[in-house]
Amino acid sequence: MEESLAEHIIGQEAAVSAISCAIRRSRTGVKDPRRPIASLLFVGPTGVGKTEVANVLAAEYFGSKEAMVRLDMSEFYGRHSLKAGWRAASRDGSISQQQKNKLVVEELRKHFRVEFLNRIDEVIIFNQLKKEQLRRIVDIMVKEVFERMKEKMIQLKVTPTIHEQSCRR
Ligand SMILES: Nc1ncnc2c1ncn2[C@@H]1O[C@H](COP(=O)(O)OP(=O)(O)O)[C@@H](O)[C@H]1O
Ligand SMILES: [Mg+2]
Repeated sequence: MEESLAEHIIGQEAAVSAISCAIRRSRTGVKDPRRPIASLLFVGPTGVGKTEVANVLAAEYFGSKEAMVRLDMSEFYGRHSLKAGWRAASRDGSISQQQKNKLVVEELRKHFRVEFLNRIDEVIIFNQLKKEQLRRIVDIMVKEVFERMKEKMIQLKVTPTIHEQSCRR
């Protein structure tokens, strides 16, 4: 599982390993069979692979992309902004992963009821992506568009400038 996730997900090694561990642990059969395999809360900035991980898990682990059920809760967006805590937690390198986790969990407690948080097996923290990682993701996306265009007999050219701009946030 780690491998198939690592193949698709760039620059989120800690998250991928924590997710794989949590799922593997639950598969050992010690867990209550009436409970979900794992309840994980993905935390992190937008566009860093949280949904993509869920998609890969659905496709590889549950057999089909259709296994993913998505509830759009965007109308709640902003109300539970974790920005302050997140910024502190994502200050790369200055603090350890353990301290990051602690900060994020502290922040979550301010925003979510304990009844909800108690049902979460693990909080998975996704990192902000670095420029080099963004470049690799853009490469993959461009390749996919190329493939699709090729099927339609359309040729596409991506200049380095366009590529560079797509990597900007
Ligand atoms: N870490 C990553 N590895 C590979 N692709 C990624 C990654 N992060 C983002 N992407 C690409 O960007 C798109 C948007 O990312 P997404 O997972 O939806 O972000 P979010 O973290 O907001 O859920 C994905 O469909 C995927 O193509
Ligand atoms: Mg998402």
